[in-house]
Amino acid sequence: MIIAKTVTDLYQNLKHIRAQKLKIGFVPTMGALHQGHISLVKRAKAENDRVVVSIFVNPTQFNNPEDLQKYPRMPEKDFEMLQNADADLLFFPTEKEIYPEGSSGKNGFDFGNLEKVLEGKFRPGHFKGVGQVVARLFEIVGADRAYFGEKDFQQLAIIRELVRMKKYQVEIIGCPTLREPDGLAMSSRNLLLTREMREEATKISKALFHIRDNRNSKSLSDLISEATAMIESTGKLRVEYLEVADEQTLEPVNDLIKSKNYRCLAAAFAGNIRLIDNVQI
Ligand code: PAF
Repeated sequence: MIIAKTVTDLYQNLKHIRAQKLKIGFVPTMGALHQGHISLVKRAKAENDRVVVSIFVNPTQFNNPEDLQKYPRMPEKDFEMLQNADADLLFFPTEKEIYPEGSSGKNGFDFGNLEKVLEGKFRPGHFKGVGQVVARLFEIVGADRAYFGEKDFQQLAIIRELVRMKKYQVEIIGCPTLREPDGLAMSSRNLLLTREMREEATKISKALFHIRDNRNSKSLSDLISEATAMIESTGKLRVEYLEVADEQTLEPVNDLIKSKNYRCLAAAFAGNIRLIDNVQI
């Protein structure tokens, strides 16, 4: 695997790939990789001739400076995992490479209601920052396909909207969430959990599965109350939101129509670590 730290370096390497008209799969990440990321790399590898991965902890998508500062960083371990997963090219830029003119441009990205619901209510500006960095990365890498996990379901919707707005010629592939054996959705943030909170955190997916498994037998409002109570049963976790939304618009709903697909999405705090998860219901 080749590691490119500058845009110029990356272009040099991509030039040969493009000259041969090879298909490029792209997996953007913020590092602290886990098997969820590796599953994206493997899928990209299976569907393309070359795979480019980026690791960049993007400051403009953090609305809380403390969250940015404590975000896990372990580049050496990441390099090894990517090497083992057979990634071809790693883009590992500094902030100056990504934002040579400064990083203040995120307000140019407007995703309308999609950025205001769910996560957007609690993380103002977060999706503008995601849009800003993903647009920059797409323009630098020029991939044929880009791979994102469904764990960040709203982010996936935002990126599809970004591609539609900017007419990027990249196909967006959403990939299923990978879970630990006890159901916890894999996330780089899980590394920050204490042992006690790690155990508590399994309640989040259990509560979402409870809603999914009982959707035909109870009212949605009862299920949401029950699921919230399950997560908060010992008072160690705190639910920030738990909503059922239309899978297309992400607008919260109060009733389910049999023929439609919905997502149940939640965010909860385990101490000061914020975890999110979602399941299709
Ligand atoms: O999902 C992530 O890791 C990040 O939000 C992304 C898409 C790499 C943008 O920084």
